[in-house]
Amino acid sequence: MPALVLLGAQWGDEGKGKATDLLGGSVDYVVRYQGGNNAGHTVVVGDQKYALHLLPSGILSPGCTPVIGNGVVVDPSVLLSELSGLNARGVDTSKLLISGNAHIITPYNVTVDKVTERFLGKRKIGTTGRGIGPTYADKINRVGIRVQDLYDESILTQKVEAALDVKNQMLTKLYNRRAIAVEQVVEELLEYADKLRPYVADTVLVLNQALEDDKVVLFEGGQGTLLDIDHGTYPFVTSSNPTAGGACTGAGVGPTKISRVIGILKAYTTRVGSGPFPTELFDADGEALRRIGGERGVTTGRDRRCGWFDAVIARYATRVNGLTDFFLTKLDVLTGWDEIPVCVAYEIDGRRVEELPYSQTDFHHAKPVYEYLPGWSEDITKAKSFSDLPKNAQNYVKALEEMSGAPISAIGVGPGRDETIEINSFL
Ligand code: GDP
Ligand code: IMO
Ligand code: MG
Repeated sequence: MPALVLLGAQWGDEGKGKATDLLGGSVDYVVRYQGGNNAGHTVVVGDQKYALHLLPSGILSPGCTPVIGNGVVVDPSVLLSELSGLNARGVDTSKLLISGNAHIITPYNVTVDKVTERFLGKRKIGTTGRGIGPTYADKINRVGIRVQDLYDESILTQKVEAALDVKNQMLTKLYNRRAIAVEQVVEELLEYADKLRPYVADTVLVLNQALEDDKVVLFEGGQGTLLDIDHGTYPFVTSSNPTAGGACTGAGVGPTKISRVIGILKAYTTRVGSGPFPTELFDADGEALRRIGGERGVTTGRDRRCGWFDAVIARYATRVNGLTDFFLTKLDVLTGWDEIPVCVAYEIDGRRVEELPYSQTDFHHAKPVYEYLPGWSEDITKAKSFSDLPKNAQNYVKALEEMSGAPISAIGVGPGRDETIEINSFL
């Protein structure tokens, strides 16, 4: 039975939440495998709109077990308030499972995220300020706090002491901030322990047993391919692996188990925070994409940078993730343009380049080479099948598919669950 990975093919905010929710009714488990509450996944069900940050989008499908895998970083206060917010709206969250090996975003990780960004000034990454980078840094430095540590006060105290040893020197001597008291952090973390206990589980065992029992498991990525710490536009990236391989390490499932990898691809491009973005628009078209597409961050409320579709990036996403399918989202937003530019290659220092350059300097110099595809003006939000789309919209989709290297198996024509054209079934 299938284990599917669903991930962002661009710089995040492609519509992963909607796509996951669409499949939620047909899968047994939805698993977050990396990132944390830097994610903002919007799901629209009927007239209800949900903004999920840490919880897998499967939480909204009653038959589905949501799982927070070992590769995720968990801010307990955010998690608990997300749970109580959903409970207040009548959503049952009791099935949630959290890996005991997931790392905790502590209050000092959030502080360090904010002060280091301020210190970087013009060179800042534009992080979400949620403590993501410092928490993963602690994990790699082997001074991280894991969910299981909440259940052993003595170990927890020793670990917080070790983590704060160097950080307090840095905060006081370099950043001119007050030192953080070990006891205060331990006390706060212990308050979360009992509330989280019912959810903590050996999620690696649970997921592997589920796969043995022919259950369907969907791994839901946060962020996107170009924000990947290894494969993204480093250093303007997040600190985890949203790419497909991250699902294996971040959930403890072997690559032989993964049967399908679906890339969520917006019909144009957006990015939040700093870093290169070849097709970015600074004109009325960029403003129109932002307005029509509602391109404002779910997590930080920042305006998203907007630009035309970039096929070089889509091809790259196909390659580094081994994509089997694309889910093209927000096609409806492009209604109304006479012609739609699509970036088919880059020009870098006078040369035409077809693939994403591995050199950061080259990527910063990349200028888009555009092809212009004819637009359409008909409302497409009611389209139920590919043939319902106007000819020019069909041709736009076919052209993107040809350039991007994997079949487009679904098309989003609106934010709602049913505003989707399914071409090939995912299950
Ligand atoms: P995610 O982080 O990848 O889950 O994406 P976000 O939720 O941050 O941003 C995607 C936005 O686009 C959300 O507001 C969705 O409700 C919306 N959306 C998703 N698919 C479509 C679509 O096909 N058409 C339109 N108009 N909106 C969509
Ligand atoms: P979803 O899951 C878009 C960006 C931040 C910043 C960089 C590093 O909703 O697609 P971080 O706080 O992770 O250290 O910030 O990554 N970023 C996102 N951009 N969508 C996201 O998540 C993002 N999560 C992080 O803006 O540029
Ligand atoms: Mg988002």
